[in-house]
This record gives sequence, C-alpha cells and structure tokens, in this order.
Amino acid sequence: MTHNPLIPQSKLPNLGTTIFTQMSALAIKHQAINLSQGFPDFDGPRYLQERLAHHVAAGANQYAPMTGVQALRDAIAEKTGALYGYTPDANSDITVTAGATEALYAAITALVRPGDEVICFDPSYDSYAPAVELSGGVLKRIALQPPHFRVNWAAFRALLSDKTRLVILNTPHNPSATVWHTADFASLWQAIAEREIYVLSDEVYEHICFDPQGHASVLAHPQLRERAIAVSSFGKTYHMTGWKVGYCIAPAAISAELRKVHQYLTFAVNTPAQLALADMLRAQPEHYRHLPTFYRERRDLFIEALRESRLEILPCEGTYFFLADYSAISDKDDVSFCQWLTTEVGVAAIPLSVFCADPFPHKLIRLCFAKQESTLLAAAERLRQL
Ligand SMILES: Cc1ncc(COP(=O)(O)O)c(C=O)c1O
Repeated sequence: MTHNPLIPQSKLPNLGTTIFTQMSALAIKHQAINLSQGFPDFDGPRYLQERLAHHVAAGANQYAPMTGVQALRDAIAEKTGALYGYTPDANSDITVTAGATEALYAAITALVRPGDEVICFDPSYDSYAPAVELSGGVLKRIALQPPHFRVNWAAFRALLSDKTRLVILNTPHNPSATVWHTADFASLWQAIAEREIYVLSDEVYEHICFDPQGHASVLAHPQLRERAIAVSSFGKTYHMTGWKVGYCIAPAAISAELRKVHQYLTFAVNTPAQLALADMLRAQPEHYRHLPTFYRERRDLFIEALRESRLEILPCEGTYFFLADYSAISDKDDVSFCQWLTTEVGVAAIPLSVFCADPFPHKLIRLCFAKQESTLLAAAERLRQL
C-alpha cells in the first residue's frame, strides 16, 4: 500500500520565504556585506548581558507571569510616563511579548474579525498582511509616494467604511525612514473620531528618531490612546534583536482581549531576559536617550562616504535604514538590481517593491546602517565603484 503524504491546503498561499531571509542567505553565499536585514553587527550593552547571566545563575528560570514580570512592567510604565506624558497602568495596560512581532500578531488577531477592513500604509512592514489574512480581514492599502511618503488624508478618509476596524501605522517608518508628526495623529483622530476604529501603532524605532521634535507617539495623543495599541521592541533599542522581547501598551479592555491571544500563543516570555531588561531600564536610562546621536553618527558617516557615488540618498528622519535611488546606475527592476548588487558587487540590500502590494515603479533600495563603521566604509567603497 502506498502512502500519499498529506499536503495541507495553504492558508497563506501567496507567501513564500521572506525577502529578508532570501537576501541574507544570498549575502552569506556570496560573502557580501549584508546591509539588507535589519540587525546590528555590533553587540548590545555589557551590563544587560551581565544582568542576564546574574538572573540565570540566581535561579530565575521558571515561567514568568503571563503579562510579563512585575519589575519590567513597572519600569516600562515609568519610562512611558517620562517620555510621552502618559503613565499606563503597569498591571492592566502593559503586556510583555516575544518581540514586537508577537504583539502585532496578538493585536491583529484580537481585534480583526472575518470581513473587517484594515487600513495600512504601503510600503509596509511584512508581518501585518499575513496576520490580517489569517483573521479573515481585508487589507486596504494606501500607497505613499517617495521621497517624503506623507499620508494623503483625503485619500485616507475616502477609504473609510462601516467595515473599517483597524488602522496600522508605523513611525519611525521602516522602510521609508520617515516619521509621523503630531499633526498626522491629529488628522488621524479627526478622521476616525466618530467611528469604532482601533489604531495599531508600530513604534519599534521610537528611540531611533532624528526629527528635531522627537518621536511622536500615539500614546501622547489623549483621545487616540484610548483606542490604540502601541508596540515597542527591546531588540531595536538594545541592539539585541535575537532576544526577541517586546511589549505593547493598550487600555485595559483592549489589553484584556490581546492577552487572551498572547496567553495561548506564547503564554509568557523568557524570565531572566525580562529581569535583566528591568534592571537595564532603571540603571542606564541614558542608553536609549543617546540612541538618536549614536545612530545619527552612523547615518551621517555612511551618507558622507556615499557622497561621490551615483546613488541618491533619500531623507532619513528615523530608523536605522535609508532609501537610495539607483536610477543613475541601472535600468534593472529593484529585485534584479539587489540580486546583482549582492552577487556581483558584494553588498546586500532590500528592494523597496517587496513592501508594496501594487507594482512599485521606483528604483529604490533600502540600506541598513546599524553596522560598525568599518562595515559601512567597506560597503561604501564598493558602492562608489558603480
Ligand atoms: C517596523 C517593524 N516592526 C516590527 C518589527 C519586529 O520587531 P521584533 O524583532 O521585536 O519582533 C520590526 C523588525 O525589523 C520592524 O522593522
């Protein structure tokens, strides 16, 4: 008797391996300098690592509370109050998650029902769409245009319907490196105030913001925060993307629903890492305060090193990425250009079109500058040859 292996009918038939994994694999194969995937090639703070070792040795190795360890939620509440003028309740409003990715998934799963419409802004981070699709939601995308990628609020209002349930935004924005201003949140509030629409604000780069006015958080808007989930990531803030610890802040009623998902998705997050992060937040707040300067220096060094190249660098207001226009160098589409750049030039980048559902005619690539100076200078030397 022959056994036919069972092949499930895919719930996400249009998804393959992400471009980030593909480009990183190609970079390794061709020994290219990897400026594609967004992770630092330097280590996080020593103190944080020491505190992790301390808590492991001290026996903090069993399950954490479902919502996160108390010391960490308390430290997050305090920090949020100091930064955004609003102190969430550490017990009812803050949930520690397995990276921002889990928070985004839990939020979308908790709020979106079959047939609900969800608005997002393209180019958009790649984890939103599959979560909406798995919940049976319908994604409505607003295409933002280079070089400034600002929201057209008339177009936004025209997209609202009785079925709109959730708006997903991201500031500072990966991949365009633009930021929302207080005025954008005011426009969002004006548009949705009379409707039952929730806001998912992906703010994982909140501490990597170069705008003179600083990061505008949804949490600083008194009305919007009553219906918002703000998502943060310690991976970005402490150069430790592999730790996968993040958190989200939302009013108690929304958090209660989100926690029902979180409870059966991961239940709880790595205990010693949470304790170490709590120590770090309290002992060295200057770490995140210095991050804009830390990354601005890297950004400026890289841009300066590329000045003689034929790449045109777009404005960078936040995140550790910027966009570069390569139309003076090649007619290739962006995916082919990035493959060629990796295999022939030895620098891996991400094509912008992969963040967009509609065809994206621009010749733009995303470069990550969360790298050591030597890495950035070596990459710039190769890019200047083009
Ligand atoms: C915009 C955005 N949101 C969420 C994430 C995921 O963060 P985490 O690694 O904490 O899951 C990333 C990571 O690159 C990101 O760029």
